[in-house]
Amino acid sequence: MTGLRALLIGALLTVAGAAAYAQTAPLPRVVESGGRHALLVDGKPFLMLGAQVNNSSNYPAMLADVWQVVDPLHANTVEIPVAWEQIEPTEGRFDFSFIDALLPQARQHDVRLVLLWFGASKNTSPSYAPEWVKSDTRRFPRMVTKAGKTHYVLSPMARSTLAADSRAFGALMRHIREVDPQHTVVMVQVENETGSYQSPRDFSPESNRLFAEPVPRELGKSGTWAQAYGWKADQAFNAWHTARYVDQVAAAGQAELNLPMYANASLSDPFKEEGAQYGASGGPNWNVIDIWKAAAPHLALVAPDIYDRDEKVYRAQLDHYARSDNALLVPENGNAPEYSRFLWLALGKGAIGWAPFGMDATGYSNFPLGAKQLDAETLEAFASKYALLAPIARDWARLAFEHPAIGFAKPKDGSDQSAALGRWKVTAMYGMWEFGERDWTWIDMPPHPNKDKPVGGAAVIQLGPDEFLLAGSDVRIRFGLIKPAAGENVQFLDVEEGTFENGRWAMKRRWNGDQTDYGLNLTRPVLLKVRMGTYR
Ligand code: DGJ
Repeated sequence: MTGLRALLIGALLTVAGAAAYAQTAPLPRVVESGGRHALLVDGKPFLMLGAQVNNSSNYPAMLADVWQVVDPLHANTVEIPVAWEQIEPTEGRFDFSFIDALLPQARQHDVRLVLLWFGASKNTSPSYAPEWVKSDTRRFPRMVTKAGKTHYVLSPMARSTLAADSRAFGALMRHIREVDPQHTVVMVQVENETGSYQSPRDFSPESNRLFAEPVPRELGKSGTWAQAYGWKADQAFNAWHTARYVDQVAAAGQAELNLPMYANASLSDPFKEEGAQYGASGGPNWNVIDIWKAAAPHLALVAPDIYDRDEKVYRAQLDHYARSDNALLVPENGNAPEYSRFLWLALGKGAIGWAPFGMDATGYSNFPLGAKQLDAETLEAFASKYALLAPIARDWARLAFEHPAIGFAKPKDGSDQSAALGRWKVTAMYGMWEFGERDWTWIDMPPHPNKDKPVGGAAVIQLGPDEFLLAGSDVRIRFGLIKPAAGENVQFLDVEEGTFENGRWAMKRRWNGDQTDYGLNLTRPVLLKVRMGTYR
């Protein structure tokens, strides 16, 4: 065969291969049924066990450091930035060499990708925009503060910025369409933590004029922004315009390749709304989700970046974002070991995906948000849980889509937690030995080494009225009746440790005796199928 012929046949095969993928690989999408959600990948529910890399790991030379952590982590998805400055360093001339290096390596390492579009806004700033954008404030105007000063944020009101950002993002998605018929890329984050710190909105003359007008009818309110939103009018106004901006960038991308897209939020105190306007005002913070939903129909969801180690705060943020009209995704949380227990909580609230941030071997740490260093113990906290879940991620995603679930993570004070599933009350207890009860005074029982440590949690799916799938670690789980009839007692009928193989439950062993006499003690991460019964 001549070199030319071989080349031609090779090219034809590649095209044929691409065409076959185009026919066989359905677009990933986020679906909802009965208030629960699933991310469909290859047409079937997929649980994203994610790892987000550090901000500047978006270069081919850094990928070895990424795999060095992602492989032993057992993550099935890598969230990785693609920066506007790297794909369009000169206006109109695109360079996709990073994508072309990334995609084959991701496939080789058997992970899916979530691309993070660092466009006009990265943590509210245009730092990742190309120089020709950052240095041309006439064409790409910054916000103006109330005092009339130039603010650092690119104004979401500027059509010229939107046009340039959309064009770059559209080109990126077109390239992905061409080189990724099998959808290694399953989702795209549009911008990163949008909004504005220090100034709640653009106070330019044009912006002020719009601010005095009635709010858009999509918001279902009447009057001006001040009349409709009172003290948070500036934040609401900026949320609307920022969300419209992000939505139009997303739409430009989806016109090329219709992948699910989302926006992530820098969060304010989940319990106190006042003050939110001084955070990343305008981003998809919990108190303006309704505005984002109305303004950004091209987004599949908005998502919380959670960097708070307090279970109460973490839970409250999840509750804000887990809505029937918003699939729960945690695209970022700290990578300190104690954050790993929140995986269980998120799963119990129906999360379609979850990821610690800063997961690569580039040696950078975002402590105090995350871990001081990504040492073996830190990695293991996440890896041990992902190792359990990775082989059954599809099964978990399908079952959590079809059935109710609850989740637990150890609270600050270590107290017991309970939640209801049907007629059953499920209780999680922490810092206990695997054997014995708290009230055993007849034997010397020193405190468990985990007693004061922030470890432990579980997620429970209710498969049937009395049947449960339970995953967790460092926790004791008990099942009781919420309202037992007179003389009614509970018992385990069947407790099986196992996994799923080809979509079917595969039992490894039954738990009984010491393994069930003191509740179900999940020390290392484990998967149990539990059938409860009663007797009189
Ligand atoms: C949240 C941002 O979204 C990330 O890109 C990163 O800057 C972290 N904060 C801090 O490490």
